[in-house]
Amino acid sequence: MIASPVLTDQYQRSLSDPEGFWAEQAGAIPWIRKPGRIRSTDRDGLHHWFTGGKLNTCYAAIDHHVGHGRGEQIALIYDSPMTGVVRRISYRELQQEVARLAGALRAQGVGAGDRVIIYMPMLCETAFAMLACARLGAVHSVVFGGFAPRELAIRIDDAEPKVVLTASCGLEFDRVIPYKPLLDEALQLATHQPTRCLLLQRPQCPAELDTTLYSDWQTVVDEAEPADCVTVAATDPLYILYTSGTTGKPKGIVRDNGGHAVALAYSMKAVYNLEPGQVMFTASDFGWAVGHSYSVYGPLIYGCTSVILEGKPVRTPDAGTFWRIVQDHKVNVLFTAPTAFRAIRKEDPEAALSKQYDLSSLQAVFVAGERCDPATLAWLQRITGVPVVDHWWQTESGWPMVANQLGIEPLPVKPGSPTKPVCGYDLQILGEDGTQLGPNEEGYVCLRLPLPPGCLPTLWRDTPRFRNAYLTRFPGYYLSGDGGYIDDDGYVFITGRVDDVINVAGHRLSTGDMEELVSSHPAVAECAVVGVACPLRGQRPVGFVVLKDGQTITGEAIEGELITLIRDNIGAVAWFRNALLVKRLPKTRSGKILRKTIRQLADGESFEVPPTIDDPLILNEIRALLAARKVGIAFER
Ligand code: COA
Ligand code: AMP
Repeated sequence: MIASPVLTDQYQRSLSDPEGFWAEQAGAIPWIRKPGRIRSTDRDGLHHWFTGGKLNTCYAAIDHHVGHGRGEQIALIYDSPMTGVVRRISYRELQQEVARLAGALRAQGVGAGDRVIIYMPMLCETAFAMLACARLGAVHSVVFGGFAPRELAIRIDDAEPKVVLTASCGLEFDRVIPYKPLLDEALQLATHQPTRCLLLQRPQCPAELDTTLYSDWQTVVDEAEPADCVTVAATDPLYILYTSGTTGKPKGIVRDNGGHAVALAYSMKAVYNLEPGQVMFTASDFGWAVGHSYSVYGPLIYGCTSVILEGKPVRTPDAGTFWRIVQDHKVNVLFTAPTAFRAIRKEDPEAALSKQYDLSSLQAVFVAGERCDPATLAWLQRITGVPVVDHWWQTESGWPMVANQLGIEPLPVKPGSPTKPVCGYDLQILGEDGTQLGPNEEGYVCLRLPLPPGCLPTLWRDTPRFRNAYLTRFPGYYLSGDGGYIDDDGYVFITGRVDDVINVAGHRLSTGDMEELVSSHPAVAECAVVGVACPLRGQRPVGFVVLKDGQTITGEAIEGELITLIRDNIGAVAWFRNALLVKRLPKTRSGKILRKTIRQLADGESFEVPPTIDDPLILNEIRALLAARKVGIAFER
């Protein structure tokens, strides 16, 4: 075993005395009323942290720091390589901006418990919007700007927002993407209608505003009286963040106020080894959990400076953007998805651009969202010369579940492993029958209940789905949806999802959702969408389609129509580029589509033909088709 005395002690204590452990961590948060109970279980059997506690997350993230000598410290740095704009906002300025926006929202009738959807690009105003909601006790739901109107409409109908906040456009490489037409289309699709939309005008593409529904953001903010922080319960929801599940309807992950604040503050030191006043640069869209936790709430609650990038790590203007930002803003910790580094490496394999910049401020690089392949890990270690930490987490947890906890005691890195369970997480590998598996045995990665603070208490207005999706399969455990194993040294290895969720360039998507859309095409009899390995994006979806009898549409035509269908309904980020016509799909004798076998064929994995397959010959046909179309890493070269 690779033992680490301090870490082992803390980890054991977090499991043997969770209430004592988390009561201590809760001391870092400015409570309005300290929690009466550290952990409790409600009548529905759901677990809650810090019941009876009162706080305001916006106060903890801003006002508390202004009142304790951090008013002039920079809280946010916005860097836009496409426009050349760099904006630095102190904690005091942030307080003023957020209080005014909160006042504007209050003037629109937004109060505690009301939902507000935020459909915006990577701007300071997006962070202001999240914090302004928190200030009022309103529940925000940020929707990733790359999602198509249908996805936005689904979220509008589920969250039922009183107000929607948006901007006139986002900037993607050399393209300006107008947001208002997307929001208008979503509102046409949605049943629920907000009472008002506030739109931030951007000079690259001002929008015409129909004043019956839209108000100009700046005008209402200028007219607003600043709003103070309201007191909320630790267990009140701070936000809903929708994420892909196995069906078309996304899951509304709920985050509470108290547990979230405590967990993030704890992680800033224990995992990321940062000190208040230091600089964290998390290159993730606000629309993902990583952007919520480590572009906004974590760094601010802990008194750090957070760098926000509007742009991509490549092509804006080149693959040196991350390194330039590290130098210019003296970044201490850089965090992004491995796919972003693969994109940089593809354009700058020798990392020549990194040598043009002073990276001496950098203490560590963190990656998550997908397994970090050993080649990318080694490349990063070589060019940065600092620890590179792969760590495992999910939207559901909101903070790392497995990591190399640099702030407690760094462990030797094993490429391919995100290292060991983080304090508070009792991680077990379970077999099909729910028994705990031994070292090196692969099974379901599960967490013994209750989950630590910060993790989802339930799904938005859908506790039955929460139970079904996560708690029913193995009673007493949370089912992560990932497979994996623990080695002899206690290192965790994640081998991939065991469900229909895939990860495309750091974007979590559902192949089940894509299958529902593909099946809705009038010519399609049935289909399978599988996530095949992709050297740059980690995974990408590929469709296999059987046409209804008598259809005369060509393979090329149906492929084009299905690509457009997915792009228009989910978004370009789905990266759905292939829909291959097959005569039949490989199935078991009981009719279950063998999606895993199709994926293994495309990925060139060796596998045994499932004994239950109804027609083994179909696999040869699919292999020949993949080869002919050069689809899948086994056939691309
Ligand atoms: N708004 C509108 N469109 C968007 C968008 C947004 N916010 N984000 C992406 N898109 C579009 C892109 O313009 C592109 O459209 P196209 O097919 O018309 O060219 C498409 O969606 C695919 O985008 P993406 O998958 O991001 O590919 P890319 O080539 O633009 O960039 C990476 C590749 C790897 C650099 C980029 O995906 C990346 O930085 N990923 C990291 C994601 C991340 O940080 N995840 C969470 C962290 S854990
Ligand atoms: P998301 O909810 O978008 O953060 O995606 C969570 C999923 O991404 C997990 O269930 C994993 O499948 C995958 N994932 C995240 N981080 C890692 C990692 N470090 N290693 C392997 N898979 C990861």
